Amino acid sequence: MTQRRSAVILGAQWGDEGKGKIVDVLSEHFDVVARYAGGHNAGHTVIISGKKFVLQLIPCGVLRPECVGVIGNGVVLDPMAFLSEVRKLREAGLPVNDQLFVSNRAQVILPYHRMIELAAETAPGRMTIGTTRRGIGPAYEDKIHRNGLRVVDLLNPSLLRTHINNACHEKNTIAHALFGTEPLDPKQMYEDYARAAEQLAPFVTDTAALLNGALRDGKRVMFEGAQGALLDIDHGTYPFVTSSSATAGGAVTGTGVGPTRIGTVIGVTKAYVTRVGEGPFPTEINDSSAELLRARGQEYGAVTGRPRRCGWLDLPLLRYSNMINGTEWLVVTKMDVMDECAEIPVCTHYKINGKLTDSVPADIRGFDAIEPVYTTLTGWGSSTEGITAYDELPAAARAYLEFLERESGAKIGMVSTGPDRDQTITMPGFAEVLSA
Ligand code: GDP
Ligand code: IMO
Ligand code: MG
Repeated sequence: MTQRRSAVILGAQWGDEGKGKIVDVLSEHFDVVARYAGGHNAGHTVIISGKKFVLQLIPCGVLRPECVGVIGNGVVLDPMAFLSEVRKLREAGLPVNDQLFVSNRAQVILPYHRMIELAAETAPGRMTIGTTRRGIGPAYEDKIHRNGLRVVDLLNPSLLRTHINNACHEKNTIAHALFGTEPLDPKQMYEDYARAAEQLAPFVTDTAALLNGALRDGKRVMFEGAQGALLDIDHGTYPFVTSSSATAGGAVTGTGVGPTRIGTVIGVTKAYVTRVGEGPFPTEINDSSAELLRARGQEYGAVTGRPRRCGWLDLPLLRYSNMINGTEWLVVTKMDVMDECAEIPVCTHYKINGKLTDSVPADIRGFDAIEPVYTTLTGWGSSTEGITAYDELPAAARAYLEFLERESGAKIGMVSTGPDRDQTITMPGFAEVLSA
């Protein structure tokens, strides 16, 4: 039973599935919410009685004063972005004082990470990933290269000064040689980050000890994923991915809580699919239906404002995502966005070189060869917005969800029928798990 006291909640596809809303709804049942991967490339939107919050680094749990928020060691932390987010939450009336903790082992994003990423993304002849330009990739590169600065090091002024001097020398030289970039000033950088370190210090602790202690004391812990399974550095549509472990395994390495302590895995999927940035997207829609979904679903990036690419539900990818995450429950968001679709195609299989298959290619050339095979379901043609009871959904909407459940192999735990906290259906079996 103790195992049930924790859950990983993550995006089933390429991010923006509505994790923020669902984490906020579920955090009512949890004492602690911990982010385990990514950084301020994430944009998690929560709407509470019409008031909108977009959280990038801070776990959505902090919107409930009784809930503790943790930024785990797997996150790359931009101190300026973190402090600005704390300031905004305080301006909105949330104290965020004794309820937010940052891992001393998290890696720090510094200005040269952004400089290198921006130069590489825009350099002629280089492959563009369409990143969020927050320095995420270069910060993880330094981590793996064992060249990074961790939060604990940021708090040590002499170590910080030496690190910034050495790193600026190296990064300025590389960026100038490769891209002709103007150098960054290490002196100014040290002053700015030493000041930020002082403001960050009260939040910093050994969060692995904190989380394991909380579980030992019988507290309920939720691990809040960022991005989505198909953006995972190992399992995603490489190289069009982010640089972290966005899948469920990342919750283990990204917080220091062992796998035996993870109770369940909840995948969040939209009733359709979106993607921001470059990369394969087998079910991408190329006609006016995409515009309908984009307009009704307000499919524009929460962080960068970029229009999101829209497509139909892709079951081979969802099954793959469920497999690599061990997903037990699915939450289906944005049902209301499809209210006006007369017909809804769902991709059930792929055809590759004339052969029907369910397997997901490992390389981009494999993705290019995919011909999606669709089953078309009937739309429901009436509003589902704000419905909170499953039985009140139109029959065709229920048929769509039941098809999705049967074909994906995971149980549907919740359905979201609007962006607000209250516009949510919780299925009876899932409600039992939550209250266990
Ligand atoms: P996240 O990154 O997974 O947290 O998702 P984002 O916040 O980036 O994007 C999801 C968007 O959809 C946000 O604007 C949410 O307010 C909105 N949203 C979430 N669930 C629903 C829903 O069921 N219906 C509608 N219409 N919007 C939703
Ligand atoms: P949330 O948590 C959607 C995408 C970027 C780009 C790729 C790499 O809100 O779901 P990066 O800056 O991480 O190096 O960019 O990953 N990406 C996201 N797309 N939602 C996100 O986060 C994303 N975080 C990164 O668009 O294609
Ligand atoms: Mg988002």
